[in-house]
Order: sequence, then C-alpha cells, then structure tokens
Amino acid sequence: MLTEEIDTEEETATIITKTAKADFPISEIISRRWSARAFSTRHVEKSKLLSILEAARWAPSSRNEQPWRYIVFTNDNPEKLKKAQSVLKEINDYAKRAPILICAITKITYSDNEIPNRLHFHDLGAANENMFLEAFNQGLIMHEMGGFDLQKAREVFNIPEDYEIGVMIAIGYQDTYHVLPDRLKEKAFTPRIRKPLSKIAFIEELDNGII
Ligand SMILES: Cc1cc2nc3c(=O)[nH]c(=O)nc-3n(C[C@H](O)[C@H](O)[C@H](O)COP(=O)(O)O)c2cc1C
Repeated sequence: MLTEEIDTEEETATIITKTAKADFPISEIISRRWSARAFSTRHVEKSKLLSILEAARWAPSSRNEQPWRYIVFTNDNPEKLKKAQSVLKEINDYAKRAPILICAITKITYSDNEIPNRLHFHDLGAANENMFLEAFNQGLIMHEMGGFDLQKAREVFNIPEDYEIGVMIAIGYQDTYHVLPDRLKEKAFTPRIRKPLSKIAFIEELDNGII
C-alpha cells in the first residue's frame, strides 16, 4: 500500500503524515498541512479552537472587510452537532467523527456601502487557509468540504441572503486510518500531487513557464 514517495510511517502507524515534496524550500507548516480524513472523536480543547479561529481573524482581505463568518458546532452539544452533520453529502461521512464542524460563510457586499464585494470568496479562502495552518500548528487535522447540501445548509444554519456559504470544515485530532470507511482506506496513503511550478507561474506571458 505504501510507496517510497509517501512520507508516511508504517501501515500500523497511528498518524499519517504527508509532507509536501516541495521542489523549492517552503516553510515547514505549509509542507506539513494536508487534508486528512481519519478523525478521532477525541474532544478538542476550546483554547485550541479559539486559536484556530483567531488565525482566521488575521487574514488579509479586500478593504479590510473581513467578510468571513464561522458558525461552529462542537461535541459539547451533540444534538446540534448532529444537525450540522446532516448537511454533509455521503462522500464526506468520514467527517461525522470530528468533534468540531464549522459552516464557513462570507458576506457578499461591503458593510459600509452594500456594494457587491467581488473578492468575498477570495478572502474567505485566505482566512480558511490561516485556520488550516493553525490547526496543524495545534497538532490537529482539518478538512474543508464543498460536498454538502447547499440549500439545506442555508436553512439549517439560518443563513441570511447577503451571505454566501463557502465550505463545511471539520477539525479534530487524527485517528488511525482504520476508522475510515473502506472506500477511503487506501486513499489515505496516496501521495499528494501538484501541477509543476512551470504550469502555474509564468514570466510575462501565460504560456511562458517560470522555470
Ligand atoms: C474548497 C474545497 C472543497 C473541498 N471539498 C472536499 C470534499 O467535499 N470532500 C473531500 O473529501 N475533500 C474536499 N476537499 C479537499 C481536497 O480534495 C484537497 O484539498 C486536495 O485534494 C489537495 O489535497 P491536500 O489538501 O491534502 O493537499 C476540498 C478542498 C477545498 C479547498
């Protein structure tokens, strides 16, 4: 199941790591972040949750609008957490083990003049990535999910019209891959792949790869 390219430990290991095989040096926390799915049901300390949300708070945003909002559900209130889980599509059933589930939404107009903010999704993404990196910094895993029932989420979470729903986010400690549904067990060990830098960054013209 394992290949040399995967920076994981033995099949029996508790925690899978998938450190990026970066072509150029990058900071350690960026290379360590990955979208793990094997959530432990273990409770996450509130102080860690607050640090992760604080990281979102310090993301950059257009006109410093800070359009991101996070509706947080935890295992402190299992009934509400279950209701939040009900919006997830079956492909994301692994996230139902996570003790924290968050609905990440974004305000689509600027607060001071109600003019459409075309960058609202951009800014939500920046804040989410800050959360992701902080989650790993806190020894946790996080998974962003677009696979959920958008309409149901709007109803369940009572989302006003001037907000768009971005992603559902699961956060928790990592468990062994054994807790994954069978269809995801092998996937847990596949290497993380990326397009080469020459296909995403260009000098002066779109087809002129930077390297
Ligand atoms: C906006 C967004 C939506 C995603 N939706 C899902 C999802 O519904 N289900 C899932 O299993 N993974 C989802 N992912 C995880 C991606 O598949 C993952 O980030 C990508 O394969 C790169 O892997 P890495 O994060 O481990 O580097 C989503 C990621 C993002 C950023």
